[in-house]
Amino acid sequence: MSTTAGAIDTATPPAPAPPRAGLIEIRQVHKSFGDLKVLAGIDLTIQPGEVTAILGPSGSGKSTLLRTINHLEPVNQGLISLDGEVIGYRREGNLLHELPEKEVLRQRTAIGMVFQNFALFAHKTALANITEAPRRALGIPRREAEAHARELLDLVGLADKADAYPRQLSGGQQQRVAIARALALRPKVLLFDEPTSALDPELVEEVLAVIRSLARAGTTLVIVTHEISFARDVADTVVFMDRGRIVEQGPPSQIIDHPAHERTRTFLQRVRSGGPDAESAAPARSTDKDPS
Ligand SMILES: Nc1ncnc2c1ncn2[C@@H]1O[C@H](COP(=O)(O)OP(=O)(O)OP(=O)(O)O)[C@@H](O)[C@H]1O
Ligand SMILES: [Mg+2]
Repeated sequence: MSTTAGAIDTATPPAPAPPRAGLIEIRQVHKSFGDLKVLAGIDLTIQPGEVTAILGPSGSGKSTLLRTINHLEPVNQGLISLDGEVIGYRREGNLLHELPEKEVLRQRTAIGMVFQNFALFAHKTALANITEAPRRALGIPRREAEAHARELLDLVGLADKADAYPRQLSGGQQQRVAIARALALRPKVLLFDEPTSALDPELVEEVLAVIRSLARAGTTLVIVTHEISFARDVADTVVFMDRGRIVEQGPPSQIIDHPAHERTRTFLQRVRSGGPDAESAAPARSTDKDPS
């Protein structure tokens, strides 16, 4: 906008606050592996600053959905965008062209991911695990990256573990380093795929506490979890998936406490009673793959 000196300040209302970043729009996403239809038309909007918990039986497509959000899995049909920018593709008129890997990597820096199995570099210290991506992907100088990494270690309660290697850390501590690592790129959105399901029960709470504090700070979070009471506690929206579709979505008071669908009720009952849906390795699963 061009302005004329003296004419602008009084005539123009103050600029609105910039919208909070991190709006994810998922539209009619379909994904198959060979003949197996894994996502069958997913429509979901994730609002900036909100926490979305995804629940559903094993094999329902939860991990696949998360992986399509940061284009670890290309979709067969449909679109996913972050703040209006299509992920993985460049729009040209009505055509979509897959972006070169370099561009996808740039987009991915805005979308952090935390995996069930931590996926830390075994031969790097906690500090080096956290500084690796900012230094490599964003070219941030070592001192600056390390200063930020130490702040993040402090945030996840591990200020004294900067020099520890993953093998010297408990599972819960490793997962907290993985969370700090995901935060190091200052992502707009953080995706968690069952972040506590590989942990001994007594270590679950320390990781959930870190996720809760991120939620309170207004980070946009998408969490696949089997921790129903945690989801009720932390989520603004709960999404229940089954067989590649969203069966129902809404606030926890609705989906967890008063589900409209029989399938949701059965699932919640099974999880609460420790039945087959409570485990990640339920019979519906045909392959056992590493989620990373
Ligand atoms: N790379 C792949 N190749 C072939 N099939 C796959 C692949 N990834 C996932 N699948 C299949 O897609 C279906 C959905 O898998 P997905 O991992 O998304 O389920 P999930 O809901 O995350 O399950 P869980 O709760 O067990 O983690 C499963 O039947 C799985 O075997
Ligand atoms: Mg999964």
